[in-house]
Amino acid sequence: MDTTITSITQQIEELREQCFQCTQCELAKTRQNVVFGEGNPETPLMIIGEGPGQTEDATGRPFVGRAGALLDEALGACRISRKHVFICNVLKCRACIIENSRTRNRPPSTSEIETCTPWLEKQIETIKPLVILCLGAPSSKFVIKKDFKMTQERGIFFPTKYARHAIAALHPAYILRQAGTSYDEGKALLIADIEAARKKVIEVKNELKTTSD
Ligand code: URA
Repeated sequence: MDTTITSITQQIEELREQCFQCTQCELAKTRQNVVFGEGNPETPLMIIGEGPGQTEDATGRPFVGRAGALLDEALGACRISRKHVFICNVLKCRACIIENSRTRNRPPSTSEIETCTPWLEKQIETIKPLVILCLGAPSSKFVIKKDFKMTQERGIFFPTKYARHAIAALHPAYILRQAGTSYDEGKALLIADIEAARKKVIEVKNELKTTSD
């Protein structure tokens, strides 16, 4: 029996329970659900987005709205399912503003991000992914470097303190806002970056195997 695998799953489930109780920032007051993340905690590939939107807040699951559908399609094109990876966000609660009894998304404040990211750090420390795929600028700035520039640096692997390799891809929600050929190009880039991350996992696994032989 592989006890290590059981304990990673247990650790993630304990962390999930703790995260569900979090009231460290104002977002706890307006959230419907904490969106901790889901997938395989034993994965070599972690995918990190920005934060929950309306559908994620309502369901407690990451990437289940329109952006999630595009992400699933792109993962599928690389023959990856949600069971192969762990998907989560920089922020665990929806950042929103209620105006005239309507709720809409807003960018999170620096202090909300700083209050929340210890949860992400604990997730990464537990899962210990070989490769991290960052979706959009917020996770790229957190995982790769503060001054990360999406237009110039997406699709490139960086060594990071969180994983041997991290790569950034366009956020699916950004791609959905593009029209015509820009949409097609954005989607093709997303698929190419996911495929690059998939191949990098295989490469690192082979390196590790060779050095342990
Ligand atoms: N966008 C994100 O960054 N994360 C989600 O979970 C959904 C949309």
